Amino acid sequence: MQSAEIRQSFLNFFSGRGHQVLPSSSLIPNNDPSVLLTTAGMQQFKPFYAGLAEPPARRVTTVQKCFRTVDLEEVGDYSHLTFFEMLGNFSFGDYFKEGAIEMAWEYLTVELQLDPARLWPSVYPEDHEAAETWRRVCGRAPHPLPDNFWPSSLEGWVGPSGPDSEIFWDMGPGVGCGQADCHPGHCDRYMELWNLVFPQYNRQPDGTMLPLEPPGIDTGMGIERLGLVLSGLQSIHQTDVFAALNQSFRERATLGEPDGEAAGYARRLLSDHSRATAFLVADGVRPSNEGRGYVLRKMVRRATLHGVRRLGIADGLSGAVDIVGQLMGDFYPEIRQRQAEVARVLSMEEAAFRRTIEQGESAFEDVVRRSGHLVPGADAFKLHDTFGFPIELTVELAAERGLRVDRQGFEAALAEARQLSRRHRRQQATPRTGLPATRFTGYQSLTGGGQVLKLLRGDQEVRKAEAGDEVEVYLDATPMYAESGGQVGDTGVIEGTAGTLAVRDVQQQGDAHAHYAQVVEGSIAVGDEVRVEVDNEARWATMRHHSATHLVHRALREVLGEGATQAGSYVAPETCTFDFSLDRAVSREELEAVFGIVNRVVRDDLQRVTAVMPLAEARQSGAMQLFGEKYGDQVRVVSFGDFSVELCGGTHVDRSGQVGQVVAVSERSVGSGLRRVEFLAGEASERHLKALVGAAERAALALKVAPAELPARVEALADERRQLQKQVDDLQRRLLEGGGGRDSHGFRNGVVFQVVGADDPDLIRHLADRLLDRESTSQLAVVMAGSDGPARLVVKARRGGDATAAEAFARIREKVGGRGGGNDTLAQGGGFRTSEMDAVVDAAASLLLERGAAQDPGGKE
Ligand code: SER
Repeated sequence: MQSAEIRQSFLNFFSGRGHQVLPSSSLIPNNDPSVLLTTAGMQQFKPFYAGLAEPPARRVTTVQKCFRTVDLEEVGDYSHLTFFEMLGNFSFGDYFKEGAIEMAWEYLTVELQLDPARLWPSVYPEDHEAAETWRRVCGRAPHPLPDNFWPSSLEGWVGPSGPDSEIFWDMGPGVGCGQADCHPGHCDRYMELWNLVFPQYNRQPDGTMLPLEPPGIDTGMGIERLGLVLSGLQSIHQTDVFAALNQSFRERATLGEPDGEAAGYARRLLSDHSRATAFLVADGVRPSNEGRGYVLRKMVRRATLHGVRRLGIADGLSGAVDIVGQLMGDFYPEIRQRQAEVARVLSMEEAAFRRTIEQGESAFEDVVRRSGHLVPGADAFKLHDTFGFPIELTVELAAERGLRVDRQGFEAALAEARQLSRRHRRQQATPRTGLPATRFTGYQSLTGGGQVLKLLRGDQEVRKAEAGDEVEVYLDATPMYAESGGQVGDTGVIEGTAGTLAVRDVQQQGDAHAHYAQVVEGSIAVGDEVRVEVDNEARWATMRHHSATHLVHRALREVLGEGATQAGSYVAPETCTFDFSLDRAVSREELEAVFGIVNRVVRDDLQRVTAVMPLAEARQSGAMQLFGEKYGDQVRVVSFGDFSVELCGGTHVDRSGQVGQVVAVSERSVGSGLRRVEFLAGEASERHLKALVGAAERAALALKVAPAELPARVEALADERRQLQKQVDDLQRRLLEGGGGRDSHGFRNGVVFQVVGADDPDLIRHLADRLLDRESTSQLAVVMAGSDGPARLVVKARRGGDATAAEAFARIREKVGGRGGGNDTLAQGGGFRTSEMDAVVDAAASLLLERGAAQDPGGKE
């Protein structure tokens, strides 16, 4: 099973058992300061377990993008990953242990047909209820494991937790310790496949465990591991997505021994990091020296080092964005939508680091000059810490010069630094830019003043930036919206006293707005007072689209029922998509009804009202709980008359009339139980309609009818074409008939042949092609054309086969006579008789027989 099929199979299985399919949330956790990145499928649902928000359904299922940094240093081996996809089913006060265990066992053993004897459930030692259920469901006692509690480290964790039941897969006695008494949890032989968590506690910030009422279910299974089990392979790097990435790096490599360990390690590392970094950037993470930005930066560095030194690939990650998009963009559309921006961000960071490597290499030369025969551990650590040199690289560079490295000293320095950073992390659980929250003034106005608090150029904090510099600008206040809730970041201009900057994007870094900009003229410095101007046209186009999504959301529910809830959206100036839950296609009439309602509400010109209120009050007012939006105490409620009321932090038009006409562009499935409608509003819809009308007018002109008559005319033409095609087919068949006789067509010994009456050379060659297509086991097609008199002969050969067409033709001439010749794939000539076909086929076959025998004396593997 390929990964796309696995996702589908899982979602289908659980949606068939009453689970609503929901999309993956962002890798950046929403309002959850207890974690840096999304590490599990349950994270986006925390408020549902704790009863802080109403879930869209009591049973849901997802495929969630996850990211774990704990194994970062191990990546490059055969099993560790940073980014992975987690399949999960969740219950919020619906089924509990029994349901979860029964469904998991059914999915694995019935749906996927995995061998029950190789599946090993385990339980938390005191969890008798789970143990009893397992005994009943699989007929065996589960293995007790004290580690079966989730999350495994409770430090800093706030929210649902509880005992769990891990299901292991036996990789076979050949893997791991080889001891007879090996058991799940002991070594690599038993691989953890699926974790069924039974959250029954709600951990408080002070560490107290309160009972979770009602308890829930949270399960998680890595798609990569399941892919491995289903394929019977040994490493995740052999499964479809990783194999394709690996191959792409193999093809791009310009140095290294392709089958050597160093190149293999580098390719595995790049395969993991190319997915991970593309997804991080697509979700809005930008390289920086803190928090998740630092994780990204570290990965780009490590990948660039390995790419450059071991494979001779300078742009390993930015050059892989395209293939990551091809492999994963069907399920995660953001990766395609933002492809250009992702490649640009990665490419800039790679280039900056390549310059650092050059500096690092010269720093290494300094170390060598000072070092004698041994590179001190402290120096090796400094290279690691400052230049991102992995210790292996330092050892390698040193060995090239006949030096050794004090590994022990290096490890000691590293351990000390880790301890320091752990202490630091404890003190500062939340990632921060070190800046207060940026004051957003862009709800009221598209221009505003601010003061420059911080400037970053590449990874360097700078006091001042000059014309041409790409910078990240932090201000105390800004009217520029930072991407969130589906709405993209603003663009525009920052005008200082000494220079001008063009802003291409704004993203959130912690609570601060990071303006990604280029100094186009003059300079800018920390402390400068600046004037910020949002690109008016782009922002208005975005606001029209954002308000339109609210109207579409309401109208969808009116037409399709309340189950059609929002599952995600993408709101930009030029386009807009809206995802919602529905397990069937939307008919043309329904879609027309939806957009009919939307445009009526637009014409009604309803006043938009925005209010900030406590969540409880918002829920009472009937606000649609925007899935994955903010759950903070105070929420922002945006409404258009009584028609639409939603929780939303985005920016909107003042009156619905300003949205302009809304037109649907497409509606399609984007996963099991998930639909996506794309639509345009305002100028974008005007442009779209104008293009459509223009195309219709041009077509009408070409067909010499009025535009209104186009459909009838096109249908008539298509009909006519079908008739004509039928006549052509008939004629062809009649032309090709003829020849007759015992051996007029058939295939033997790798040669497919036919005798025909026609003598049109194009037709005959075409027939030879068709014969080869049809007879996939034949290597040569031989067509003789003629009836009583002299006949023509055409020979076609499959490219890369045992004999070329020219060779076969020569053999035929040698045995039968005639004249002519050709190239590798086509040969033709005259002077044959149809009665000689038998001999012609034998001659061609004899050549194949010799070739096959010569090349393959012992049979192919
Ligand atoms: N939360 C559990 C895990 O991440 C199961 O989803 O393993």
